[in-house]
Amino acid sequence: MSVERILDARLRDRIVSAEQAAALIQPGETVAMSGFTGSGYPKAVPMALAKRIEDVHAQGLPFQIKLMTGASTAPELDGALAKADGIAMRMPFQTDPDARKRINDGKLDYIDIHLSHVAQHVWFGFYGEIDTAVVEVSAIRADGALVPSTSVGNNKTWLDLAKKVIIEVNEWQPADIEGMHDIYYGTALPPHRKPIPLIHANDRIGQTTLDVDPDKIVAVVRTNGPDRNSPFKPIDEDSRLIAGHLIEFLKHEVAKGRLPHNLLPLQSGVGNIPNAVLAGLADSGLRGLSAFTEVIQDGMLDLLKSGVLEYASCTGFALSPEANEEFKRNIRFYRDRIIMRTQEMSNHPELVRRLGCIGMNGMIEVDIYGNVNSTHVMGSRIMNGIGGSGDFTRNGFLSTFLSPSMAKGGSISAIVPMVSHVDHTEHDVSIIVTEQGLADLRGLPPRARARQVIDNCAHPGYRDQLNDYFDRACRDSYGKHTPHLLPEALSWHQRYIDTGSMKA
Ligand code: COA
Repeated sequence: MSVERILDARLRDRIVSAEQAAALIQPGETVAMSGFTGSGYPKAVPMALAKRIEDVHAQGLPFQIKLMTGASTAPELDGALAKADGIAMRMPFQTDPDARKRINDGKLDYIDIHLSHVAQHVWFGFYGEIDTAVVEVSAIRADGALVPSTSVGNNKTWLDLAKKVIIEVNEWQPADIEGMHDIYYGTALPPHRKPIPLIHANDRIGQTTLDVDPDKIVAVVRTNGPDRNSPFKPIDEDSRLIAGHLIEFLKHEVAKGRLPHNLLPLQSGVGNIPNAVLAGLADSGLRGLSAFTEVIQDGMLDLLKSGVLEYASCTGFALSPEANEEFKRNIRFYRDRIIMRTQEMSNHPELVRRLGCIGMNGMIEVDIYGNVNSTHVMGSRIMNGIGGSGDFTRNGFLSTFLSPSMAKGGSISAIVPMVSHVDHTEHDVSIIVTEQGLADLRGLPPRARARQVIDNCAHPGYRDQLNDYFDRACRDSYGKHTPHLLPEALSWHQRYIDTGSMKA
């Protein structure tokens, strides 16, 4: 591989192998890595570190690190380190099956926090010092500035705060990505904070590169590997119906004059249903759309290409291998239409509120009053984490949650009397959509919300059971504002754990 991507002559003698770089990380360190939903994560050093940890464990010695990133990563990072039993603490979001198992077995401490909180909580000192940052970039310029790759995440904070820095320069990333990023250096800690000067979702308020003190760089590792994300499933009937209900609703809001003809900036969670919504928007007749979101996935690239979406602001990508190739092939086209920010900015409550984002996220379950569980199966087993859903739900113009009405082949209802874990409260959630229909909870008191959710969103196979619960709760509940029969509400989940079916 050429060294043209490493133009700062001061760093030439710090180019080492991944194994040499990994040897600089010591047991017990807090290590902050780049990466956001399978994009822009370091590809070589985490694997080499996992191997080193395994070797140390083989000698009967302990070796674990505390690991922070932007969000989820990929098997080369979370997967490798979890398999090696190398992670003592993980923050703030992950989706890896091995790590999930270790977390749910009680062997890995997981701190699941809003993505907008991560950088500031680290700056506040809540997580102690960062020993090492491992950050992927696409190039190092002659002046030492770092050209970010396909995610920004918390990299600015990691580079600013880490005591030592390891850089991976990934030549697989398109060189012409330079110019796509907007890194805002105007943040400060309270009481010195000022308003963020971003008025429109496509405003540029920062610089295109990341700063780092060259004296902190202890190793530079050259890599040439792809970002890895799973391909999306073909859009199924449920997803198509959910997308249809939501798009019909958005058009209704335009007709009522509550939304402009080109909507408001969209935030889209990752997954097959949000991807189906994006596909549905392509044929909706809506034009001139924009996105202020965390992650750009396949459907959003398609919308940019067709011109339905004019521009998108994000902090990372979740692209299938085919979409990755399309992105790289037409990088200059996308560079003119995509702005990549730090996740402090992409998820910033002040910006989400000011821009009036339309949040569209997945959920595990919702209760009849609109409280949403995004993270925990049966109240105690974590699936992924809250990610950025809370940043957009609390602060968005509209907060929509999308899910099939049933899970696990119909043996679980996604609509329940009381959620087994609360991530988003009834005070923040405005719209629920399942394949059955849409519940518009805006302006409704609790009992009216319950009727909407049951009648419009519950699967017919569970509707009578839910109505029966609600009727009896209205009759027998201690209070009549948010009627509940507490032991029975929670026994709904226990029944599944005991028998494998809620209907039992
Ligand atoms: N009870 C039990 N399990 C449930 C369930 C329920 N009510 N609802 C879903 N599940 C299970 C599914 O069966 C599936 O399990 P499997 O992997 O063993 O098959 C898993 O949860 C994922 O569900 P799926 O239907 O594939 O939905 P998804 O991919 O759209 O994910 C969330 C749904 C909630 C897990 C996902 O949206 C998430 O992690 N959200 C939180 C983070 C977030 O919103 N980020 C947005 C900003 S990026």
